Amino acid sequence: IFKVPFPQNEPVFEYREGSKEKKELKAALKELSEKYIEIPVVIGGKEVKTGDTVEITAPFDHSIRLGKYHKAGQPEIQQAIDAAMAAREAWGKMPWFHRAGIFLKIAELISTKYRAQMNAATMLSIGKTAVQAEIDSACELIDFLRFNVHFMQQIYGEQPMHNSKGVWNSLQYRPLEGFILAVTPFNFTAISGNLPLAPAMMGNVVLWKPSGDAAYVPNLLMKIFKEAGLPDGVVNYVPSDAKDISAATFSSPDFGGIHFTGSTGVFKNIWETIGKNIYTYKSYPRIVGETGGKDFIFAHKSADLDELAVASVRGAFEYQGQKCSAASRAYIPMSMKDAYLKRMKELVGEIKMGSPMDFRNFMTAVVSKRAYKSITAFIDYAKQASDAEIVIGGGYDESKGWFIEPTVITTQNLEFKTFREEIFGPVLTVTFYEDEKYEEYLKLCNSGNEYALTGSIFARCREAIITAVELLEDAAGNFYINDKPTGAVVGQQPFGGGRGSGTNDKAGSYLNLIRWVNTRTVKETF
Ligand code: SER
Repeated sequence: IFKVPFPQNEPVFEYREGSKEKKELKAALKELSEKYIEIPVVIGGKEVKTGDTVEITAPFDHSIRLGKYHKAGQPEIQQAIDAAMAAREAWGKMPWFHRAGIFLKIAELISTKYRAQMNAATMLSIGKTAVQAEIDSACELIDFLRFNVHFMQQIYGEQPMHNSKGVWNSLQYRPLEGFILAVTPFNFTAISGNLPLAPAMMGNVVLWKPSGDAAYVPNLLMKIFKEAGLPDGVVNYVPSDAKDISAATFSSPDFGGIHFTGSTGVFKNIWETIGKNIYTYKSYPRIVGETGGKDFIFAHKSADLDELAVASVRGAFEYQGQKCSAASRAYIPMSMKDAYLKRMKELVGEIKMGSPMDFRNFMTAVVSKRAYKSITAFIDYAKQASDAEIVIGGGYDESKGWFIEPTVITTQNLEFKTFREEIFGPVLTVTFYEDEKYEEYLKLCNSGNEYALTGSIFARCREAIITAVELLEDAAGNFYINDKPTGAVVGQQPFGGGRGSGTNDKAGSYLNLIRWVNTRTVKETF
């Protein structure tokens, strides 16, 4: 059997002063920030300009106009469905190891030729620092591609069946019957690329609808896919309004499934719409979604204070807290309260915020006006509340870009709005519990939230770790011991959560890829 070697994770560039990588990235930032580009819809490999456009500006600087993207309306989305279905047969019949070559080439192009542009485009359009862009639009995306090829080989290239005397059994995998809709979020270029590519890798054809806040980087990705030899029509790029994509795709008899990352509310609406249309489809559509989170950090009194504080700051404030995995609520023992808050103030005091083009900045702006308004409304709510206090930050300023200070709120009310609801911004709400109530609070943490995406326990005491692992069993799909709850690495920590956080089909593992195939069992008797 043709064996794909177990991949290595892509090494992370450090962008040291004077390095070749840093010079290239700076040059790409300069070039893209001075260029105004027009981003077309792509249907069956053809670029379509609908004239219905949306302006793209850098979140951290209203004066940097990056370009505009054309929106697909329902007629273009229907054309994209037709183009996808026309490409389906040839693509689905291509042997998996030939498809593998295309995806490994995409990974190689991103790793070498386009790395600086990918990172610069991510930094400028969604406001990531160089470090955050590098681990996302370079390393994680490359890892998704290489590891998924490995997992595809496990599925398509190996036979798990047992045979008895006189019997030959086999499992035959084929792509799904219809097309897949990939609905992608603004916050990770890697996820944005992986959601269309994972089903496509397994032989499916795809419509790709990006977040309206992140239609810029996919333009470059579509060009890279073409250069790597992805046939026209396999991935069709259709930035569009939710109502149009929903009306055109969910009513199509060819709808085969959805690969989604976004908000819980939108995902539930989609599920409901698919349910209403269930008699329309040839097969039950595959519904795979990663949605919201209210991710926790839980400290035991034996925790290392500095580790805990550093993880709180990195988990809550890297990329302005706009990760579905971001630390957003913390449970700290009362005996650590003063030391924890003191260390947090010191660490937050060192944070520099501004343009990502200045590499010293640890934070930049939040992605859009809508995000800014929504996050600052939570901060304002806390400002006027009698049962909570803003102990760090709380300021915001939209004069140059959508800037919000790293903010820490304390409350003893576990029902407090910012302690319960997803904020998706740089806001951490902390509660303090009596040290001897460790188990009671672990149980409250486990049962107290509608989400279950990520969470961390900090403890030096092994007994305390064992207790936490047991009592927090349903609280997080990705559970970390003595580490921040963000930064899952493909091939090492497959990502996804349960409850309101999604279908937990673990991006970056065979568990995800197996959702994109149709299986036939064949028994032959001699
Ligand atoms: N995979 C990302 C992380 O682990 C979140 O989407 O931070």
